[in-house]
Amino acid sequence: MLGLLAFTGLAFANSDCSTGPVYNLPPVASNGTSQVDYIAAATGLNGPHVHPVNASAYDLWYFDVVDTAPNSNASVVLVFFDTPPGTFPFPPGSWNTSLLVTLAITFPNGTFASTTTEVGLATNATVVVDGEGSSGNWEGVGLNWTYDVVTGAYDVFFDSAQFDGIKGSIHFQPRGAARYPCGPGVPGQTMRLVPNAGYVNPLPDAVATVDLIVDGERLTFTGAGYHDQGWGPQPFSSAVGSWYWGHGRVGPYSVVWFDILTADGVEYVSTYVGKGDTALVTSCDLASQQVRPTGNNATFPPTSSSPKPSGYHITMDLGAEGVLDMNVSVVNQMFDLTEYMRAIAYINGTITPPGGKPGPSMGGPALLEQFALQA
Ligand SMILES: *[C@@H]1O[C@H](CO)[C@@H](O)[C@H](O)[C@H]1NC(C)=O
Ligand SMILES: *[C@@H]1O[C@H](CO)[C@@H](O)[C@H](O)[C@H]1NC(C)=O
Ligand SMILES: *[C@@H]1O[C@H](CO)[C@@H](O)[C@H](O)[C@H]1NC(C)=O
Ligand SMILES: *[C@@H]1O[C@H](CO)[C@@H](O)[C@H](O)[C@H]1NC(C)=O
Ligand SMILES: *[C@@H]1O[C@H](CO)[C@@H](O)[C@H](O)[C@H]1NC(C)=O
Ligand SMILES: *[C@@H]1O[C@H](CO)[C@@H](O)[C@H](O)[C@H]1NC(C)=O
Ligand SMILES: *[C@@H]1O[C@H](CO)[C@@H](O)[C@H](O)[C@H]1NC(C)=O
Ligand SMILES: *[C@@H]1O[C@H](CO)[C@@H](O)[C@H](O)[C@H]1NC(C)=O
Ligand SMILES: *[C@@H]1O[C@H](CO)[C@@H](O)[C@H](O)[C@H]1NC(C)=O
Ligand SMILES: *[C@@H]1O[C@H](CO)[C@@H](O)[C@H](O)[C@H]1NC(C)=O
Repeated sequence: MLGLLAFTGLAFANSDCSTGPVYNLPPVASNGTSQVDYIAAATGLNGPHVHPVNASAYDLWYFDVVDTAPNSNASVVLVFFDTPPGTFPFPPGSWNTSLLVTLAITFPNGTFASTTTEVGLATNATVVVDGEGSSGNWEGVGLNWTYDVVTGAYDVFFDSAQFDGIKGSIHFQPRGAARYPCGPGVPGQTMRLVPNAGYVNPLPDAVATVDLIVDGERLTFTGAGYHDQGWGPQPFSSAVGSWYWGHGRVGPYSVVWFDILTADGVEYVSTYVGKGDTALVTSCDLASQQVRPTGNNATFPPTSSSPKPSGYHITMDLGAEGVLDMNVSVVNQMFDLTEYMRAIAYINGTITPPGGKPGPSMGGPALLEQFALQA
């Protein structure tokens, strides 16, 4: 079945069978030149965007959920990598395969599940494109994701010996439509986040339902879910000097921020603000957003030796609705590495209408990341 579909490709895209091309990804980098997608096509938003992946290129599919219950530190982050050694800062390049999965889970009290220290290694992988979505299976890992072309929902399934016998699933019900870094999910949009790096955001926000058995315990919660894909023809660190990224909720709003300095120090942003299923802003205009670190240890621009900030001050321009002003406070630092931080955070924000006074404050959870790759 899969082989047949691979042959017939897009011919199936709009039939009852509905699935489009099937990509078989090998565990070793190909020799030669990679073709890299930067302009959105009519389908395949979440399919492989580097063809094939050579020794300097990478492509990855990222999913996370952060609990929306007040004071909870429950979270799940998993990444399906097609990253030859040395192309992406994490996981470290000591693995001899491009195909691996990382999985980090925290319980409500903030303790990591044992799976967090494991890496899942795959013998090969399959990504099946279906309209704007995709399904993926990293063979031998026991983790995969599926996409429902009718509802736009994603599911991740777990049944993995490599991850200490974890079992269960996460359902991601979309809140807002798939988008590109600088605009809506329509053909012709740029997928370039910064020079030499692409990004798509199939799920800027989702109502995510987690139901897992991990470390012999049941972990169930509902949270703010998110899914993106990132890729490039050259190692990540050649495109990015530092980056602030995060997503979350503040009152009725869903937000995704990116404020990036390239390796040459040029600033790029990608801004998303949604309300329910409606996108209010999706823009790469520098005037649409600014993210700066806050607290005693705030250093901008950040370097790999800078101490990590205790939060961020973020402004997003909503146009006629005004300016969304957010103070994001780190609640639980999950990873604090030299060049990287990942944290659960709390957003406290207000909207100031044009010429008016700040409205009532709103709150909500966030999951955020900081890279600072230069000394
Ligand atoms: C790439 O070239 C090297 C050296 O010639 C060879 O060992 C390797 O098998 C080749 N890889 C592929 C995927 O063809
Ligand atoms: C991989 O392909 C890209 C073109 O997309 C090229 O710039 C790069 O040099 C290639 N890398 C290797 C190791 O051949
Ligand atoms: C990686 O190394 C292991 C152990 O030496 C070997 O079994 C596996 O085939 C290697 N994988 C690749 C992609 O070379
Ligand atoms: C945190 O919660 C997990 C899951 O219930 C439990 O196994 C662990 O012992 C707790 N850690 C602490 C420090 O209480
Ligand atoms: C979550 O982590 C924060 C910071 O460590 C802590 O204050 C809070 O009590 C934790 N929540 C729970 C439910 O344990
Ligand atoms: C992919 O891996 C699976 C499980 O290890 C194996 O059964 C299958 O033959 C592999 N397929 C290819 C194309 O290598
Ligand atoms: C995905 O994983 C689940 C749980 O292991 C399994 O039941 C299902 O068959 C897998 N799907 C694919 C396409 O491998
Ligand atoms: C961050 O600032 C606090 C308060 O000034 C200080 O105690 C702490 O040592 C600083 N952390 C680092 C890594 O410098
Ligand atoms: C964020 O913090 C700054 C500095 O303390 C303050 O001026 C601003 O009003 C705060 N914004 C919100 C939304 O609380
Ligand atoms: C936001 O911060 C202000 C100032 O600290 C506080 O008064 C307000 O209650 C906070 N709002 C929310 C929703 O957390």
